[in-house]
Amino acid sequence: MTPEDKKRNAAEAAIDYVKPGSTIGVGTGSTVNHFIDLLGEKMQGKVNSAVSSSEASSERLRSHGIKVVDLNEVGELDLYVDGADESNHQLQLIKGGGGALTREKIVAAASAVFVCIADESKLVTTLGAFPLPVEVVPMARGLVIGALQGLGGDPRLREGFVTDNGNQILDVHGLQIDDPIDMEIRINQIVGVVCVGLFAHRPADVLILGGEDGIRSIQA
Ligand code: 5RP
Repeated sequence: MTPEDKKRNAAEAAIDYVKPGSTIGVGTGSTVNHFIDLLGEKMQGKVNSAVSSSEASSERLRSHGIKVVDLNEVGELDLYVDGADESNHQLQLIKGGGGALTREKIVAAASAVFVCIADESKLVTTLGAFPLPVEVVPMARGLVIGALQGLGGDPRLREGFVTDNGNQILDVHGLQIDDPIDMEIRINQIVGVVCVGLFAHRPADVLILGGEDGIRSIQA
């Protein structure tokens, strides 16, 4: 089974969480792209609309005839489906490999249930092998780099990348994140940080993993 098959299987299992007539939150990335395509194939005309976490996902949703709405128009969402770069067994996540972490965190915070979809390689014991993305206001970049180094990390600018919000991303290497909630709080306190891609305060509620033998789900 290829990695894409595993992602698609996880995405297909998440379709069961979608209630006909609902407005759902939709994340970003290659696994979510499978989910969007499956929404188009299996839920055509059944999903009312979606709140999207990126311009790329918005475009893909629209290409399937799914209406994209502003979060301010709809308030709380029943369901958010998104991928992850890493998950620990408490379903605390590293996200932002695609650079959409800020909008992803906003949509996750607005959603009653967060279903995370991934291939099985994303499940880890300790977060941090995947470089932690941090979105920063460009003028504060130097200041934030110094503060992240003070936390023991090795922040590197994601070259040639601008977020949908007009900001930059620092990918922080070398962190072993033993206490994800504490690390999320510490990084959020650095002036100039827009968002950190640690989803520990608001973890996923369900993790669906695609593997060689099909899918398995872990509940928080
Ligand atoms: C984008 C994300 C993605 O969910 C994460 O990078 C996983 O992507 P993929 O499904 O392509 O492995 O956080 O900002």
